Amino acid sequence: MDAVESPERRAAFEARIAAGEVIEPKDWMPEGYRRQLLRMMSQHAHSEVVGMLPEGNWITRAPTLRRKIGLLAKVQDEAGHGLYLYCAAESLGVSRDEMLDALHDGAARYASIFNYPTLSWADIGAIGWLVDGAAVVNQTLLAKCSFGPYARAMLRICREENFHRRQGYEIVATLARGTAAQRAMVQDAVNRWWWPTLMMFGPPDAESANSEALMRWRVKRQSNDAQRQWFINLTVPQANAIGIELPDPELEFDAESGNWKSGAVDWDEFRRVLRGDGPCNHERMAARRRAHEEGRWVRQAAQAFEARRRTRAPREISTTPRREPAHV
Ligand SMILES: [Fe+2]
Ligand SMILES: [Fe+2]
Repeated sequence: MDAVESPERRAAFEARIAAGEVIEPKDWMPEGYRRQLLRMMSQHAHSEVVGMLPEGNWITRAPTLRRKIGLLAKVQDEAGHGLYLYCAAESLGVSRDEMLDALHDGAARYASIFNYPTLSWADIGAIGWLVDGAAVVNQTLLAKCSFGPYARAMLRICREENFHRRQGYEIVATLARGTAAQRAMVQDAVNRWWWPTLMMFGPPDAESANSEALMRWRVKRQSNDAQRQWFINLTVPQANAIGIELPDPELEFDAESGNWKSGAVDWDEFRRVLRGDGPCNHERMAARRRAHEEGRWVRQAAQAFEARRRTRAPREISTTPRREPAHV
């Protein structure tokens, strides 16, 4: 791709966007568009991968075999989401190694929500219901974004995120109709996860530095506040249906707008956690760096295997029917 920017090229690009065209990696794009997408997609990939850590913590402690299988599959799904997104981001000309180095050096961000601890089994339900639920809202919109590889990755990811949301809600609903101790445990989990989930949509529109350009380029299809409101409107009736209280005394239905009006989000807390001062920032990054180091031999072995496979002539496909091994 020729990177030279001229007013004509820029105007042609903006016209394509305005006409609803999808931009592909080989198409000309302004450097600002490429940089913003790379920032969002790599941050999104990092969030999928770091997001495995708080939940992975509970795989060995899931209360039943069925719950363990479900959680294991969900955590594996998140690893897959990270891989799709790293691949999609690589189409913008940066390698996966460079993106991972930026994460491990602390130069790149991931979603601040994953810096909160998972203190009880009910947190796994609350994360699935609320955090994956918020991801579904955000990613449904990204599936319609103007950059082809990102939009396509989102389509498949959204289907899986929806499943995670339903799985989380089922855990929360089960605990909500359980014993008094279970009800208290799940209410406590929702109390802790509600506000950080609302922060996932990013700062209020008035303070969102990148929003204007992203909306014009159709990378972002709705503002942070609009997405947050959409999520609240979806979630309040779900909480009411199972007798869970959302920890916001100011939450009130506004008949005129049809929206559930919420109280003020503590944006100081959001900025503090983003700066690295959340409850688990250090723990998460240490675990991520350790996992990367401990997985080095696996990556090297996979690369060596692939290099050897490429140097060999393709084998003829055998036409002899295969038999099951005899039982002993
Ligand atoms: Fe995911
Ligand atoms: Fe998920």
